[in-house]
Amino acid sequence: DKQLVIGLFGFGVVGEGLYKVLHQTASLNAKIKKVCIKDPNKKRNAPDELFTTDRDEILNDPEINVVVEVINESEPAFYIVSTALKNGKEVVSASKKMIAEHLPELLKLQTETGLSFLYEASSCASIPVIRNLEEYYDNDLLHGIRGIVNGSTNYILTKMFEEKLDFKQALLQAQALGFAEADPTLDVDGWDAVNKWVILLLHAYGVVSHPDDILFTGIQNIQGSDATVGREKNLEIRLVGQAKKLQNGKVAAFVLPQFVKHDDHLSFVKNEYNGAVVESSFADKQFFYGKGAGSFPTASAVLSDISALRYDYKYEYKKLYYHQPNELTNDYYLKV
Ligand code: HSE
Repeated sequence: DKQLVIGLFGFGVVGEGLYKVLHQTASLNAKIKKVCIKDPNKKRNAPDELFTTDRDEILNDPEINVVVEVINESEPAFYIVSTALKNGKEVVSASKKMIAEHLPELLKLQTETGLSFLYEASSCASIPVIRNLEEYYDNDLLHGIRGIVNGSTNYILTKMFEEKLDFKQALLQAQALGFAEADPTLDVDGWDAVNKWVILLLHAYGVVSHPDDILFTGIQNIQGSDATVGREKNLEIRLVGQAKKLQNGKVAAFVLPQFVKHDDHLSFVKNEYNGAVVESSFADKQFFYGKGAGSFPTASAVLSDISALRYDYKYEYKKLYYHQPNELTNDYYLKV
């Protein structure tokens, strides 16, 4: 069995979650050798000698064969991931913002190095949505995906709707529970969701896009009165993203708050949960559902990637390399 010697970057909600989860997964032949952190003075629930603030201690350690990167800031994350791959290490990351902003460079690096670069935790946390999009649906068979991919905004909407909390209180709770980004405007204004859709579009349709290419807005303008209108009409508000293959073969995508009916699968998705309805030929509709934020659910996806490294699992970017890559269009929402 391949021994995985891990250098971990980040010991926040996800990093500490992974540390604990790995301790409960004895069957996995993996150990964390070093953890790189930013602030050495913070009190942490792990032995002091595990920590360093020098990223080269991990990136240049020949014994470390796996780098797990779960930090907040996008540019340092890109440096860490790209250097680790160049240094021959396999990489697991949860940094959706970094991945969405650097897709072309990351694809190039993955091709050049031939190493595994996995990031299941970057979209819908615990739900294995990337692997399913990558593996299950042939290019022509996938008609569309509608989904809720941000846990914090879904949590806030649920609390506003069901407990009549105001926006600010609900956001404070989402932060306290470890669902929100360090800068919660990334969640609230829809950035985090659109970053995740950039990643999903790559695996669903082979579309290489950038967050700036996609129409989106978050829940920043939703008010209690919107929830009241919804209640009167028996509708609920969700921040819904959609990607759809059009008749002309192009792919349209957007993220917008929407009213959803009670018989819509997405209305079942409450609190920090995420959900996605996938429509394809023959299978009809499938519904993916699970926790989309939080320490252990996110660590679960990171753990699954680490375990997949034991048998050299790699994304093959099948839709991108084996099919004609699909083109993104914004015609669709201009017409609806
Ligand atoms: N802030 C993110 C969310 C964390 O609320 O969905 C999980 O990616």
